[in-house]
Amino acid sequence: MASQWFKNAIVYCIDVDTFKDGNGDGIGDFIGLRQGLSYLAGLGVSCIWLLPFYPSPDRDNGYDITDYIGIHPALGDLGDFAAFMDEAANRGIRVIIDLVVNHTSDQHPWFKAARSRDPHYVDYYVWRNDRPGDTSNEVVFPGKQKAVWQYDRTAKAYYFHRFYEYQPDLNTANPNVRDEIKKIIGFWLALGVSGFRVDAAPFVIATKGPEAQKQPHESFVFLNEFREFLSWKKGDAVFLAEANVPPDQMLQYFGDRGTRMNMVLNFFVNPHVFLAMANESPEPLIRSLVQLPMIPENSQWAYFLRNHDELDLSRLGELERARCFEAFGSEKKMQIYDRGIRRRLAPMLGGDIRRQLLGYSLIFTIPGTPVLWYGEEIGMGDDLHQEERNSVRTPMQWNAEPNAGFADPSVKKLRRPVIDSGEFDYRRVNVQAQRRDPHSLLNSLERMIRTRKEYPEFGCGKWRLVESDRPDQIFAHACEDAGNAVLAVHNLSGEPLQVNVRLWSDQFDHAVFLFGDVDSKEIKDKDLAMELPAYGYDWIRLRP
Ligand code: GLC
Ligand code: CA
Repeated sequence: MASQWFKNAIVYCIDVDTFKDGNGDGIGDFIGLRQGLSYLAGLGVSCIWLLPFYPSPDRDNGYDITDYIGIHPALGDLGDFAAFMDEAANRGIRVIIDLVVNHTSDQHPWFKAARSRDPHYVDYYVWRNDRPGDTSNEVVFPGKQKAVWQYDRTAKAYYFHRFYEYQPDLNTANPNVRDEIKKIIGFWLALGVSGFRVDAAPFVIATKGPEAQKQPHESFVFLNEFREFLSWKKGDAVFLAEANVPPDQMLQYFGDRGTRMNMVLNFFVNPHVFLAMANESPEPLIRSLVQLPMIPENSQWAYFLRNHDELDLSRLGELERARCFEAFGSEKKMQIYDRGIRRRLAPMLGGDIRRQLLGYSLIFTIPGTPVLWYGEEIGMGDDLHQEERNSVRTPMQWNAEPNAGFADPSVKKLRRPVIDSGEFDYRRVNVQAQRRDPHSLLNSLERMIRTRKEYPEFGCGKWRLVESDRPDQIFAHACEDAGNAVLAVHNLSGEPLQVNVRLWSDQFDHAVFLFGDVDSKEIKDKDLAMELPAYGYDWIRLRP
């Protein structure tokens, strides 16, 4: 269905200021990003998700916005943005952007007016006059943030901030604020975007302020309101929600008839994929998948391995979390907020390409839309000298020249330093080198992307677990749509395996392998015998 483009999209997330510098000042920008589009088109990316690129003091990587309808001057201007959008459209690539409306920067003109008690703006934010009690257990960034209230000397009152103290929460219960949000949505839709990644969705709709603690409550109707506006302005535009909530709350973000968020990033399955890789067993992954609610026909999960934030392990049990820390981030400096790991995927998996591809194959085949973080396709490393989550936000590694092709070799200072030592040094890990190597991560992932697009069954949502005689190591599942069936078989273990997969129906007698060395095989009485290397996987088309 044309209107459901997002179900088979390949989403690629980009931070404009670390992707490509187009004007030689050491900061990535829209000119550079436009130049990078041919690479993304070649990789098979069909939808770019841009992290915040708005004017901002940049204390939280742009999530502290001072102007919602502008471009950060270091990244270019609206003209550069429009030229980028035009070129993306020419290449058939859609663009979605971050909608960060839980809070503004404390430097936003609305907040400045509000703290001076401008009657129109004061209720754009959430205030209290009395001294708050201890709120250290309500903060989002433990260790970095102490409370959710901050005293403001101009206002002579406390303002509410779920995130950092320089990010005052917008009062979304105020209809004027919701009108502003719709204005922002309408503006960027008019400039051609295909939708929005809704930052911190649960907090946007939560009761804020002193009431929040007494009676936590979400106003899901706000999501209906925004969605109605979105769909009215542009029929096939979508919302991709960041909603890190337990499985029993997830359905409400879609709405039971799919009238709220079109897609939700799955923060529940995510840590279970890592636990499955740590234990070399499919059990945690299966356990998480079966806990998911059935979602409406017109909705979709979005799956990722790593993103621009920490790997959040808080939805695991205590021992499971400890297991993941031990396997993927045992040193204190790799950990953050008592719940997560601030590393990129490749270093977490010891640079093992097989295990990286195994992880991608899992998120490419469980029913949903895959989302990649820039640099993952070449297995970039992290820089633990950078503060907090900036460790995973270093410049894209294009080639082996000084500045890694991110900026002209003559540029002295970059937005952040490139990784220039160790196993993930840009002289070893870069696009140009991997382009030449037929077995590189880049080329393998490009092939996986192409194959994923050829088999939309993986995105349609009708799936089943498939039995095998190696249930402790093998994850096998099938997806069916419009009479077509594809099977995916993953060997989570570090041992090569012979496995017998038992299909659910005798209607198939022919298996076509999409990756391995074998081309095809007969299926005998529902049994398909195959061999998988250590951490190997294959996708199989089943034919009657
Ligand atoms: C989201 C973003 C994160 C940011 C936070 C506050 O969680 O992913 O990077 O710090 O919102 O806007
Ligand atoms: Ca620049």
